[in-house]
Parts: sequence; structure tokens; C-alpha cells
Amino acid sequence: MKFFQGKMFVILCSLLVTGFAFATCASLYDYSANIETNNTDVELWIDSVSLKPFTKLEWQDHQNESINRVRKRNIRIHVHEPAGTKAPRRENRHRPNTASFPARLQHNRNHLKPQGLPGLVHPTFHRDDVQQRNEMVLHGSPSDQENYTVPDAMVSFFKRHKISIRGHTILWASTNVTQYWVRLLQPKDILKAAVRRVGSVVSRYSGDVIGWDVMNENLHNSFYEEKLGPNASAMFYQIVRALDPNTPLFLNEYNTLEFPTDMNGHFLRTPKLSHMRATLDVLGATNMPIWLTELDTKRGPAQAVELEEIMREAFAHPAIEGIIVWGGWKPTGCNQTCLTNNNYDVLPKGCAEMCLTDNNFKNLPPGDVVDKLIKEWKTTNVTGVTNVDGVFEQNVFLGEYSVLVSHPMFPRRPVKKKFNVTNGKGPLEMWVSV
Ligand SMILES: *[C@@H]1O[C@H](CO)[C@@H](O)[C@H](O)[C@H]1NC(C)=O
Ligand SMILES: *[C@@H]1O[C@H](CO)[C@@H](O)[C@H](O)[C@H]1NC(C)=O
Ligand SMILES: *[C@@H]1O[C@H](CO)[C@@H](O)[C@H](O)[C@H]1NC(C)=O
Ligand SMILES: *[C@@H]1O[C@H](CO)[C@@H](O)[C@H](O)[C@H]1NC(C)=O
Ligand SMILES: *[C@@H]1O[C@H](CO)[C@@H](O)[C@H](O)[C@H]1NC(C)=O
Ligand SMILES: *[C@@H]1O[C@H](CO)[C@@H](O)[C@H](O)[C@H]1NC(C)=O
Ligand SMILES: *[C@@H]1O[C@H](CO)[C@@H](O)[C@H](O)[C@H]1NC(C)=O
Ligand SMILES: *[C@@H]1O[C@H](CO)[C@@H](O)[C@H](O)[C@H]1NC(C)=O
Repeated sequence: MKFFQGKMFVILCSLLVTGFAFATCASLYDYSANIETNNTDVELWIDSVSLKPFTKLEWQDHQNESINRVRKRNIRIHVHEPAGTKAPRRENRHRPNTASFPARLQHNRNHLKPQGLPGLVHPTFHRDDVQQRNEMVLHGSPSDQENYTVPDAMVSFFKRHKISIRGHTILWASTNVTQYWVRLLQPKDILKAAVRRVGSVVSRYSGDVIGWDVMNENLHNSFYEEKLGPNASAMFYQIVRALDPNTPLFLNEYNTLEFPTDMNGHFLRTPKLSHMRATLDVLGATNMPIWLTELDTKRGPAQAVELEEIMREAFAHPAIEGIIVWGGWKPTGCNQTCLTNNNYDVLPKGCAEMCLTDNNFKNLPPGDVVDKLIKEWKTTNVTGVTNVDGVFEQNVFLGEYSVLVSHPMFPRRPVKKKFNVTNGKGPLEMWVSV
């Protein structure tokens, strides 16, 4: 076959055959019109396809089943009692310190202001992520002087509160957002400035960040390729890799997941979960870790519901390793003017598409969704008693736990153990002696 448009259709079809729930099956027919080939010798066969509509509940059921498979595991704690003791009853309590699946909130410099703090240190957000969109981009002064006052303060604040930080972004491939003074430079000076920027920011925060966005949105834009040649982005990735070998490097991209026509997740139309799942299946086949970043949904009455659907779909998909919600608060993004504007198709200038809280840090419906899911996706405070074989079994979300085992004969001598529940086959077996 020489030419084959609409590959996605075939992928979706095979997904339909092997997969489960499609709430929006009808929309798939759109794709069939896109299968084209100029080679008339080719015959296309689609065998044993059955299309079946699925209800929302069936879709959810499949998500839940996948969550159980991908994000949870049984643990079996075997408790050895001291020789000669008779009482078989022991109490196990365990609670997670951290969930291994990061679902995070994006922060910006405004959280450093005192009035930003109450919302930020809300306990359910204790492992939030930082995205420093503007603070870490090349600075705007023609003298290209670095000024790390704000990012340093942010990094130190988030470290103090044990909030993990993602480095977003070192460079940005879009011409429009590249500083005016950089755009005016000759190519060799652009190279110099960019390499200096990479060296400066990476060496400064290496070890502090859990990931680097190296060249933001470089599938859609190519400022550095245009100025420096076709391998420019690859070169910057290599420089960052050499400077910081231990931190994952990301391609941060948009219009990959959201819609068939359009991997960051600005879902500005009603999300098609079937498309999202099919795309994640394809991307996931590369075995590269995927994060859903910059996640927000369109303003309006369905915003929170859609946010929840997308977060659940992402959490249920084995290829997704983390979610970052695009909800950094700023004083003028979520004020009453913004919140009471009902013209959902036109975002008023300066307003945020999605607000987790109002300006008094009172949760709005999307904030409730994030809180609810972060809570739901952790196992906390489980208490139980071992069986006659001295075994306690429990299904838990992956993550780091501490367990406290006490024996009724030695109530003052509880044994404490910390452990990580990672993905694996069968239950995680653990032995504890009291
Ligand atoms: C297929 O043929 C049509 C009509 O000649 C042409 O417009 C199109 O570009 C061809 N496509 C490819 C991929 O060769
Ligand atoms: C899926 O799990 C959620 C959370 O436990 C639950 O609220 C929902 O009812 C479940 N859906 C189905 C269809 O079982
Ligand atoms: C650096 O940035 C901070 C915060 O924006 C500002 O207060 C300070 O004056 C700047 N320092 C220099 C040397 O420009
Ligand atoms: C960049 O700016 C130009 C001129 O203002 C505009 O036409 C274009 O759409 C912008 N491109 C992007 C990707 O925003
Ligand atoms: C770009 O990278 C490719 C693959 O590493 C290499 O084969 C090619 O020579 C490079 N091109 C330039 C212009 O450096
Ligand atoms: C609210 O925010 C919008 C968008 O940033 C701004 O235009 C407006 O002046 C703000 N209103 C008030 C009362 O602060
Ligand atoms: C879990 O236990 C801790 C300490 O006893 C307590 O502070 C916390 O509120 C409990 N959490 C839940 C969800 O029960
Ligand atoms: C659990 O895993 C995390 C991340 O790899 C690590 O930092 C932590 O030390 C581990 N905890 C235990 C108890 O092994």
C-alpha cells in the first residue's frame, strides 16, 4: 500500500474488537471516510468487527477494573509471633505517606504571596507540583541578565513543603513566546544565549526537579530549528541529558490527546474519551512514560464533570504516569468578573479557563473534583487483624506505606515498617516479627 490516510481508524477498530467501552461509537464512523489509497491493487479487509454501543456506566466499570489492575496491588503481611506466645490477634494499621501516582496542581509565582498560602498548603495537595511557566523562561531584558529571585523563592518554598517540582520549561519552540531580544539575535548568538540558558537553569535546579520540559511544544513550533538547523531540539535534549543524567526529560506537547483533529491536556471542547483512550494506546505502545500536563477543561456547567471524566480516564490508563492540573491561581485569573462571565466560548482577557478556587480559596467544583480524586486514589488508615495463619491481606493503591504491627501481649512494643508497594505480579509479600 502506497498511501494510507486515517490510520487511526484501524487502530480504533482493533481497539473496538479487543477493547471495551465506547460511549461515542457513532463518531467513529467519521474516520471511515478517511481511508484512502492510491494503490488500487490493495484490498482492505476488516474481519469480524462488531460494533456495540456502551453506556457510561459500562465505560466507568471498565475504568474501575483497569484502575484496580494498574494502580493497585494486594499486600500480604505475614506476622511472626515470638515463640511460645498464644494469642493470635494482631492489629495492622497502615497509612500511605505518599501516593506513587502523582496528581498535581500547577502553581505559579503568585503562590509565594502570603495570601496565596492558605489554598496552597491545603493538606490534600501535599504533593503538588510546580510549573513555572514564565519564571523559568528566558528573561525579557535585552541585557539578557539572569534574575532567579522568583524561581529561587518558589523552589525553596516548595522544597520546604515537600512539594515536587517539574521544570517547565527550559526553552520554548514557539517564535511568538520567544523573547523579543532573542528573536533579534543572529543565529550564532541565539545558539550562545540558548546554551547559556540551558546550562544556567539546569545546573541551578538539577536535583530539585522531578522532570524537565526541555523544548516546549516543539512538534508544533520550530524556532530553534529554523535558526540553528534541523537537529536543534535534539541537541538541546542531549545537552540537558549530559548536565543532568538522572532527571527524566519530557516532550510537552498539545493537540495530541484532546481531539481527533487537533500532550498537554487543554480540553477546550467536549472531550471524546474514546479518542483519548485510543491515542494513549498508540503513544503507550512506545513504552515511554506519559504525563498528562496542563490539564484543564472548558468553562461552563459541564467543566467539573468533564475534568473528572478525563482524570479518571488518565488514571485508568497504564501508559499515564502522572497528571498535572492547569490551575495555578493568580489574583486576576479567577476573580468575580471571570467567574460570573457566562459567555463560555470567549475567554475574557486575563481570566483562567479553569479555576479550582475563588479568590478566597474556597473550592469551586473543579477543585472539589481534584480533592475528591486525590483522596480516592490513596489507601489510608486501614486497620485489621491477622488470620489464623498470621497473615493480613489488603488491596491498596501503589505508593509508600508505613505499617504498625502490634501484638496484644506486647501492646507497648509495636513494630513499625516502611515499604513501597510497586507494580508487580501477585501480592506483595512482607514479613514482620513482633
Ligand atoms: C492520490 O491521487 C490523487 C489524485 O491523483 C492525488 O491528488 C493525491 O495527491 C494522491 N495521493 C498520494 C498520497 O499520492
Ligand atoms: C467506579 O469507581 C468509583 C469510585 O470507587 C465509583 O464511585 C463508581 O460507582 C464505580 N463505577 C462503576 C460503574 O462501578
Ligand atoms: C530580580 O527580580 C526581582 C523580582 O522580580 C526584583 O525585585 C529585582 O529587582 C530583580 N533584580 C534585578 C537585579 O533586576
Ligand atoms: C504568532 O503570532 C502571529 C502574529 O501575531 C499570529 O498570526 C500567529 O497565529 C501566532 N502563532 C501562534 C502559534 O500563536
Ligand atoms: C541530525 O541527526 C541525525 C541523527 O542523529 C544525523 O544523522 C544527522 O547527520 C544530523 N544532521 C545534522 C545537520 O546535524
Ligand atoms: C478581574 O480579572 C480580569 C481579568 O484579569 C480583569 O480584567 C478585571 O479587571 C479584574 N476585575 C477586578 C475587579 O479586579
Ligand atoms: C488517619 O489517621 C491519622 C492519624 O491517626 C488522622 O490524623 C487522619 O485524620 C486519619 N485519616 C483518615 C482519612 O481517617
Ligand atoms: C519508596 O520509593 C521512593 C521513590 O523511589 C523512595 O524515595 C523511598 O525511599 C522508598 N521508600 C522506602 C521505604 O523504600
